[in-house]
Amino acid sequence: MAYNCLETETDDRVQIIRLSRPEALNAFNNELMNELTDALKAADADPKISCIIITGSEKAFAAGADIKEMADKTATEAYLEDFITSNWEQVTRTRKPVIAAVAGYALGGGCELAMMCDFIIAADNAKFGQPEITIGAIPGAGGTQRLARFIGKSKAMDMCLTGRMMGAEEAERCGLVSRVVPKAELMDTAIEVAKKIAGYSRPVSMMVKEAVNRAFETTLAEGVLFERRLFYSVFATEDQKEGMKAFIEKREPNFKDA
Ligand code: CAA
Repeated sequence: MAYNCLETETDDRVQIIRLSRPEALNAFNNELMNELTDALKAADADPKISCIIITGSEKAFAAGADIKEMADKTATEAYLEDFITSNWEQVTRTRKPVIAAVAGYALGGGCELAMMCDFIIAADNAKFGQPEITIGAIPGAGGTQRLARFIGKSKAMDMCLTGRMMGAEEAERCGLVSRVVPKAELMDTAIEVAKKIAGYSRPVSMMVKEAVNRAFETTLAEGVLFERRLFYSVFATEDQKEGMKAFIEKREPNFKDA
């Protein structure tokens, strides 16, 4: 499928989705978000795909929601069109693992979209921020909530109240990103990581994602119970039998996503 604001490519069992509105540093207008929703749904439904990467350009992952598109919006319009919720939430509804590969600016909605992914690999030139306060707004795609969970109250307050940017090194130090790599190695690393995940059993990797995400939605006791139920259910998969047999026979497993 051809998109105006995205470039898509598959590499083995990995779907790469590149945000591409260079004239606006990949700011999220409605067209881009509708296309992203469509591309994510397609990748999630495609049995040949096991892991997804969302990335941008070297200069910008994304500079946030499109300020020009939303500047004159009324509250009633935002409410009636279900602004943000209607076409941003697919990222969190995607069941296969989604990696954000971030170079350059990830600001406002750009930082929020990266945080909706399962983890973030950052280039050393990445800059994260929630600068909405500088334009008389507050984060609207989960920034105050997810940033506080990622990096704690003090730093989240600092970021959202001052609107300052955080570099890749600080982002790794405070747990916003899982690893930092030189800018030139970002995509190679992200693809290598995605292929590693895609090499495991797809139902099992999806269960891992579901279980970790539950940690952010429930109490420890309920989360552990949820994990335990999923753990029991892996014994119903052929891939668990194959994985453990392969270990015992000292060979590589041949997972069948079954
Ligand atoms: N929306 C619309 N257009 C944007 C944009 C945005 N968020 N960010 C950048 N652009 C456009 C600029 O208007 C400019 O277009 P023109 O050439 O037509 O003027 C082009 O992209 C290049 O941008 P700059 O000239 O500003 O580039 P720069 O290198 O000097 O600065 C920047 C880069 C620091 C990222 C700066 O563009 C910037 O501050 N952008 C806005 C960041 C921001 O406030 N994001 C939050 C948006 S609100 C939000 O996201 C709400 C939410 O929670 C959902």
